Amino acid sequence: MTERTLVLVKPDGVQRLLVGRILARYEERGLRIVGLKLVQVDRDLAERHYAVHREKPFFAGLVEFITSAPLVALALEGPDAVAVVRTMNGATRPNQADPGTIRGDLALVTSQNLVHASDSPETAQFELDLWFRPEELVGYTREIDRWVLAPEGA
Ligand code: CMP
Repeated sequence: MTERTLVLVKPDGVQRLLVGRILARYEERGLRIVGLKLVQVDRDLAERHYAVHREKPFFAGLVEFITSAPLVALALEGPDAVAVVRTMNGATRPNQADPGTIRGDLALVTSQNLVHASDSPETAQFELDLWFRPEELVGYTREIDRWVLAPEGA
């Protein structure tokens, strides 16, 4: 089923000049970019985004990190986009991430694991609403869609 999901290329990705390479992975997979922006995150947005982690010991450090420098927020669309992007990102702990994943290839530590992605379709809806205004998400088709998005069974 076609889904949308939220991805953050976190401050470590921007500072390490990896934005282009990370975006290219999602594009090359065939996912469609339907929203994209650079954001200097404030504390309020950071705390709302990571609200489920509020009680965790690493919460304060996480908010500090995510607000420390700009990040890139993007909305991706495609078949089973939520699960596909989670698989592409790899395990949260880079020392458990498979080679070939973004974290498995490019990251070493959990607190600087380069990317965030929604973990379920419900979370994706919440996070897309948090990061993008409705008019910032653009629906469109691409010439290549008939080569990467053929309907199942076609
Ligand atoms: P993310 O997918 O952005 O969602 C929550 C983030 O918390 C996670 O990636 C990690 O960057 C971070 N995180 C999870 N566990 C720890 C930890 N033990 N120490 C520091 N950061 C953590």
